[in-house]
Amino acid sequence: MQFAHFDVAAFINANWQKRPLLIRNPWKAWANPLEPDELAGLACEEGVESRLITSGSGKLALERGPFAEERFAKLGKEPWTLLVQAVDHYVPDVAALIEPFRFVPDWRIDDVMVSYANDGGGVGPHFDQYDVFLIQGLGRRRWRVGPVCDAQTPLVPHEDLRLIEDFEATGDWVLEPGDILYVPPGFAHDGVAIGDDCMTYSVGFRAPSRAELAEAWTAHQVDAMAEDDRYADPDLSFQAHPGEITAEALDRLHGMVLASLADRDAFARWFGHYNSLSKYAETDWRPEEQMEADEVAAMLGEGHALHRNPAHRFAFIEAGEGVLLFVDGVCRECRGEAAALARDLCAGGEWSGSPGEEALALLTALINQGSLGFEEED
Ligand code: SIN
Ligand code: CO
Repeated sequence: MQFAHFDVAAFINANWQKRPLLIRNPWKAWANPLEPDELAGLACEEGVESRLITSGSGKLALERGPFAEERFAKLGKEPWTLLVQAVDHYVPDVAALIEPFRFVPDWRIDDVMVSYANDGGGVGPHFDQYDVFLIQGLGRRRWRVGPVCDAQTPLVPHEDLRLIEDFEATGDWVLEPGDILYVPPGFAHDGVAIGDDCMTYSVGFRAPSRAELAEAWTAHQVDAMAEDDRYADPDLSFQAHPGEITAEALDRLHGMVLASLADRDAFARWFGHYNSLSKYAETDWRPEEQMEADEVAAMLGEGHALHRNPAHRFAFIEAGEGVLLFVDGVCRECRGEAAALARDLCAGGEWSGSPGEEALALLTALINQGSLGFEEED
């Protein structure tokens, strides 16, 4: 999928993380990449995160998947919405929707959620912590966008849903297939299907919270700290009041904490690992038997291409003459030809060629950890 007209630079300047934008069908040729039935099929599968939001007597209710097929047959005329997370992990044509948004780096991209609603269906007025591009796939949806919300915004008391109590729209649009609404973090939004067969694709982003980062990075560093690495004061000086915790003592204590978290190189390695961990562990591509490097070379020699497991996250960090490659939580130091291969793999798409020894070792390791695979023969 490609854009025919969309000014990325202007978008970043005026809208990205700033204000919502309606983008009327920017695609070369929009084609809905997934059938509603296939989405329903995914929602019946174990390990796929799905939700069903129904409305009876004006109140929204949430059910979590996986669902029995019969559940969909029982849905009546009352508005309902089915939402399935990370559909890009299962459907290559849905994964292709991410490609035009890669002006934002991969590590900031989360996944593609897909929703399907009947007439009047929607998840109610809410706000999210992340940027999202809401692509209308099939049918029509009325989107209303409101002001920025925060922890003080009054919510409707509800066990499962965080719905805004007094939603007031500042923008109101009907989206047709191919239209896109960009919503930055925190902006209230409410989408309601107009007519049946309404499908929306949400290309969602991730932004670690300071709390999450601080907690995880600290926990990582703490793991390596020794029991005897302690406050020490061999230079103890006499203080006027024994009850005081002096500024000097506090500086030393505070310094102990800051120094243990300040290692920039260790942080880079840790963050690459942390960010490349998969949220879902369901798409296991590991071969039944570990492949040997010469088997991999033979397959490549016969012209077979390698594909990336769409559920695994790939990223690299430049490090001196080489790179640190992170795939599915595993860090590898790559130099020379292997570093060039690592950058290539992170660029995406399929990979074929005749690798040298180090690159072949890297490919073999990635195949055996289930991050790369040869296309299945039909
Ligand atoms: C939807 O697709 O119905 C909801 C998406 C969202 O509001 O984030
Ligand atoms: Co939302």
